[in-house]
This record gives sequence, structure tokens and C-alpha cells, in this order.
Amino acid sequence: MIICETREELTNWRNNQLEVSLVPTMGALHDGHLSLIQEAKKHRGRSLVSIFVNPKQFGPNEDFDQYPRTLDADLKKCEDEGVDCVWIPKERGIYPEGVENAIGITVPDSLSKVLCGVSRPHFFDGVCTVVYRLLILSKATTAIFGEKDFQQLIILKKMVSDLMIPVTISGCPIVRETDGLAMSSRNRYLSSKERHNAATLYQALLTAKKELSEGINDISVIRSRLQSNCPQLTLDYLECVDHDTLELKQTCKNGDRLCVAAWCGQTRLIDNLMI
Ligand code: PAJ
Repeated sequence: MIICETREELTNWRNNQLEVSLVPTMGALHDGHLSLIQEAKKHRGRSLVSIFVNPKQFGPNEDFDQYPRTLDADLKKCEDEGVDCVWIPKERGIYPEGVENAIGITVPDSLSKVLCGVSRPHFFDGVCTVVYRLLILSKATTAIFGEKDFQQLIILKKMVSDLMIPVTISGCPIVRETDGLAMSSRNRYLSSKERHNAATLYQALLTAKKELSEGINDISVIRSRLQSNCPQLTLDYLECVDHDTLELKQTCKNGDRLCVAAWCGQTRLIDNLMI
């Protein structure tokens, strides 16, 4: 496995490869990330994993400094998965003019100011700005993302189509713990009591899906029932969205997606379920 830090090292590795599948990550790798790597390895060509905690996507009061950094363990996992190259760029390698002076991507409000964008208004601009740069620098032919961050996946698909970037975006299903909690690098912040409570979110989503099949399809009703099914969590949002456009639905139907965010103590959980 090759490890690259600088742009020159990456270019040298990249030059003789016809096809490259990129898995962008912020590290603290878990089985959710590894499922993306396994998908990358099914594609033709070489697999590339980037590890970069992107300052541009964190708000001023968010956890950039505290975000878990576990590089040695991450490299071991990548090696065990048979990754061809791990790219660990420095901040100046991604933002040569500095983070504050970076030219960025602006996502239209219809996509970026709904769901997670209500409480994190600059988040998706930051994500698109870094992923654009990762794609340009790596010249990846495929890039793989998880459905765990469903809004992120839809927005990135729109970005590459609208900016005509020659890359295929591929989405992978959510990997869960045995009790259903969606895996996340931030789950390690949870105390054991919070960890127990966190699992109620997915169970409540499953209940909502079941009730929907029994005719309860108004999102306001679904929202209040879901909140009462996970009383230890504080709902940030629960919305039903169109699978392709993220358009908010008042009345849910098969094929839509329920997207949820909820606070479990100081940790914000997100999850979603196709209905
Ligand atoms: P990060 O949170 O490290 O996630 C990297 C990728 O792993 C994302 O595509 C995310 O959707 C996927 N992922 C995380 N948990 C998952 C799970 N339980 N099941 C399946 N996939 C999962 O998302 C980011 O980093 C950043 O925003 C990034 C795209 C790297 C840009 O900085």
C-alpha cells in the first residue's frame, strides 16, 4: 500500500493508472467506511482512500479540534482491506491559498438549506468545496459515498453533473451496529447510557415505516410519534423527501426517504430510511 501526502506524490502514483476509485473520508474509520472501500475494490483499476478532516465544513462552534484522529489504526484498516493508496493531504495541499481565502462551491438553497442545512448552513458548501478539489487532484473516475449522509450524496451527485466533472458517483447502503444504530465516527463521543438511547432512533424509524404501511402518512403526525418513541433524544428534524430531488413532502409515499437528525446528549445523530 502506497501512502501519499503531497500533490506530487499523488500525481506520480496516479499517472500510470487508467481508472481510480476514490473513497473520501475524514478518518476514524469504521465498518461503514470499510464497506465503501470494499465497493471501490469491486471497480476496475486502483483504489484510493483520502483521509482529510476538512476545516471548511465545520462551523465555528463545531467539533473540528475534537474530531477523532486515529491515523495509525486507519492505515492498518486500509492495509487489511487491500487499499492501493492512502492519500493524507496537508491543509495547504488542498487549500494552497489558505482555508479562509479558498474559492468555494456554493450549493443552491433548495438543496443546502433544508434538512441538515438548517442547523449547518455552510456545511454543504464546505463538503462540495473539498470533494471538488479531491476529485480534481486525484482525477478519480469513480467516487464512492455512503447513504448514511443521504443529503451529502444527493448534493454531490448534483455537483458533478452540474459542473460536468467526468466522474461516476456511487452510493452504498448504511452499515449499522447490531442494535441498528448507524455507524459514525462521532458515536465514540457517546457515553454508555447515551449509546443505549441512540439505538432508539433507528427503531423509531422502523416503527414509522411500519405505521406508514398502515396508512399514517402525514409527516407532522409521523414526526410527533417518532419523537415520543425516542423520548431521550431531542429531534432536530424529521422530514420525508423525494429520493432524487430532496423536495420535502407533507404526505409520504413508497420510494420516498425519511431523513432524521436528533441530539443524544451533546452528539448529533443522523439517519435515514427508504420507505
Ligand atoms: P466521513 O464522515 O468520514 O464519511 C466518509 C464516507 O463514509 C461518507 O461517504 C459517508 O457517507 C460514509 N459513511 C459514514 N458512515 C457510514 C455508514 N454507517 N454506512 C455507510 N457509509 C458510511 O462524509 C464525510 O466524511 C465528509 O463529509 C467527506 C465526504 C469526506 C468530505 O469531507
